[in-house]
Amino acid sequence: MDKILIHGGNTLKGSVKVSGAKNAALPTIAACLLSGGTHRLKNIPDLRDIRTIKEIMEKLGVVFHGEGASLDVNSDNLTSFEAPYEQVKTMRASILLLGPLLARYGKAKISLPGGCAIGARPVNLHLKALTAMGADMFLDHGYINASADRLRGANITFDIPTVTGTENIMMAAVTAEGTTVLKNAAREPEILDLADMLRGMGADIEGDGTDRIVIHGVNDLKPARHSVISDRIETGTFMIAAAITGGEIKIEGCRPEYLKALIEKLESAGARVEVTNDFVLVKGPDMLESVDIMTRPYPGFPTDLQAQFMTLMCVADGWSMIRETVFENRFIHVSELKRMGADIEINGNQALVKGTKALLSAPVMATDLRASASLILAALVAKGGPTEVHRIYHLDRGYENLEEKFKHLGATIWREKA
Ligand code: EPU
Repeated sequence: MDKILIHGGNTLKGSVKVSGAKNAALPTIAACLLSGGTHRLKNIPDLRDIRTIKEIMEKLGVVFHGEGASLDVNSDNLTSFEAPYEQVKTMRASILLLGPLLARYGKAKISLPGGCAIGARPVNLHLKALTAMGADMFLDHGYINASADRLRGANITFDIPTVTGTENIMMAAVTAEGTTVLKNAAREPEILDLADMLRGMGADIEGDGTDRIVIHGVNDLKPARHSVISDRIETGTFMIAAAITGGEIKIEGCRPEYLKALIEKLESAGARVEVTNDFVLVKGPDMLESVDIMTRPYPGFPTDLQAQFMTLMCVADGWSMIRETVFENRFIHVSELKRMGADIEINGNQALVKGTKALLSAPVMATDLRASASLILAALVAKGGPTEVHRIYHLDRGYENLEEKFKHLGATIWREKA
């Protein structure tokens, strides 16, 4: 297994361009199942999760062609409707195939995703909504077996705003008979991006970006031409890197308006943040101040930046209270940060972080994607020789060329292949 080594202590400076968003690219690739013809996607990041969804879809009969960040997708000749356990267990977002397969082909067999390191993460709300739209569902040997003649529009109120749940049902609803109203829908920017793509295909969708999305079913869709939005979590990770190293990083090609919650907290911590339409410049302070955060669905503070922000608070002056309200088990990075000398006490869904003068290098293990990023950030400022971050395959799921980008910004970072 590959590991990343970082010799901490460098001040990061310069500019970096963020990649396309993993969590926007995954639903847009799944949405290509909704119509025949060749879809043209752009700004698709080269990530393990993207390779996984392509592998699953290739097994269904989907043909991909692409160079760099461009991807052509054709689903004219499907031969299977099954997403197998072997792949779904490595990427829960495979559930995103359920809505489009049901909508276009009236059948799907998807391995039920199990729990994962950050929580139980059920998909009951996806299944409940599809059932309300007329799908028959049964669970057999760990697989969701779903079928429907033609889905029909329904009024659906999500108990919790679910991101992939909202995306799945939007895709299911675009060609359903009649109107679907989604209440308490997720409002993440990735939902807007998917809605834009679907509208470009001929779908009739209003209200995306609010908690009430209305979808009038249409009979035909055409292939998409769509460029995926930039990754706000990657952007946020670089912003925190500037703040923690006391450096100055210009992050280009991003959408700062999607990061208001983080910007506010970084400014409270003492960082200087300059924002334009498509770049953000962050200058770290001499002394970081502690601030509290609570994760919330968008536009609240993103759970996908909680671990990285916690690392920042590990070296800030004072006490910070970090509350995780989206996932029930998203503090697994804490025990690894403690191995580097962090002072953190967990009580239920709250972590009390006491800033310490210095983190110390240590061998640590990544446990999930964002936890890996938090350990890289800790390693960037750790004293006492190189920090080894093991199980880096988690990082490769969602960050494109992260070590190259950090190297370009002045970090002493390298990967050792197993
Ligand atoms: N939930 C249910 N039932 C459901 C669906 C969700 O109880 O049927 C609960 C979850 O257990 C969780 C909460 O609702 O407590 C919100 O989960 P959500 O469904 O919104 O999460 P998701 O769609 O599975 C996406 C991202 C995650 C990100 C979350 C929250 C993708 C592919 N994944 O997951 O990204 O953390 O939204 O913003 O879009 C990551 O990139 O590292 C990552 C984990």
